[in-house]
Amino acid sequence: MRQASITFDRAFAIGDTDPRLFGAFVEHLGRCVYGGIYEPGHPTADKRGFRKDVLDLVKELGPTIMRYPGGNFVSGYNWEDGVGPVKDRPARLDLAWFTTEPNTFGTNEFVDWCRAAKIEPMLAVNLGTRDGDAARNLVEYCNHPGGTAWSDLRIKHGWKKPHDIKFWCLGNEVDGPWQMEHKTATEYGRVAHEAAKMMRWIDPSIELAACGSSGRNMPTYGRWEDEVLEHTFDQVEFISLHTYFNNYAADTKAFLASPDLMDQFIEEVVAISDAVAARRRSDKRIMLSFDEWNVWYRTRRVRADRVKEGWPVAPPILEEIYSMEDALVFGGACISLLNHADRVKAACLAQLVNVIAPIMTETGGPAWRQTIFWPFAQMSRLGRGTVLKAIVKSESYQASYF
Ligand code: AHR
Repeated sequence: MRQASITFDRAFAIGDTDPRLFGAFVEHLGRCVYGGIYEPGHPTADKRGFRKDVLDLVKELGPTIMRYPGGNFVSGYNWEDGVGPVKDRPARLDLAWFTTEPNTFGTNEFVDWCRAAKIEPMLAVNLGTRDGDAARNLVEYCNHPGGTAWSDLRIKHGWKKPHDIKFWCLGNEVDGPWQMEHKTATEYGRVAHEAAKMMRWIDPSIELAACGSSGRNMPTYGRWEDEVLEHTFDQVEFISLHTYFNNYAADTKAFLASPDLMDQFIEEVVAISDAVAARRRSDKRIMLSFDEWNVWYRTRRVRADRVKEGWPVAPPILEEIYSMEDALVFGGACISLLNHADRVKAACLAQLVNVIAPIMTETGGPAWRQTIFWPFAQMSRLGRGTVLKAIVKSESYQASYF
């Protein structure tokens, strides 16, 4: 008979889980916003256009913090397009997903949606096509009480109280050539440093995450983290990590073992961050924000395919249908996050609705759960408190995975 054992001892604790470990992500991508969380005219929509059936499922799923508005989208986003009277907002071509962005949903609607869902908002600023100036203006618009042009504009738009957004991402996947205004680590490090400095001058209570590598397989991985943190170490609390698991090889054993690479990724980024601290003789510890993770491979698309479709608004793209096998790998990733609760202090399942998501909808129709909904909901509901180190004894197998 095969046997396995797991031993726990209360004396061997890894750390306490931060409530932000159970986050998710809403990007202006496909039907995540339009036809997902927001669909005016849907039978369950409230007067603000928020779908109640989706909100109910989100509450059951239990995400604690929500990243917005991207993703690749944010690297070309003018946040000013998404505020003010809806009739005056411009439609724009989105070069991340080759769609048309109508801008009928923006920062204020997102914050209202988060409040309705009882979720902390996390905003990413555009450090692709824009820089520290647009970022600091957004912090002033959102968090300054009033009496300045940007804060008074928020009040004029109908939001008297500041949004008080604490968690800010300094751009997205800037190391990736697919990103609008992709940068080298030196170029990004400088921009992130200056943006962070000004954002914090406006609101010293904010917390900032610098972009780490968009995957452990990036050619610049490791050197990127090292140089970016050399520039931003004193300005940021977090460095980000992104991972998407795949079973391209149709190798179940390797796929099921692949969350081991998440462990390795986390431990390597901790080592690099601590090396930067050591060079400065600093006892500051940079925490990790694993702000995109999931299984994603069936619905990846090359840019040439996107272009052929002719700039649609909210097309059904990246609508991955998840299997039981995916849910097991996903559960492995949840355990990897919990096992690093001492250093991973924020994480976002990418994404929330329709786009590589635990929740699916039909535009105009019902909403339902995918297989990956269940491990996430259990992790968020039960994974609170102190994580104990698990000593696992079982048979093992060799697997190679890329
Ligand atoms: O989550 C989908 C995309 O994956 C995001 O827009 C991007 O940041 C990542 O490459």
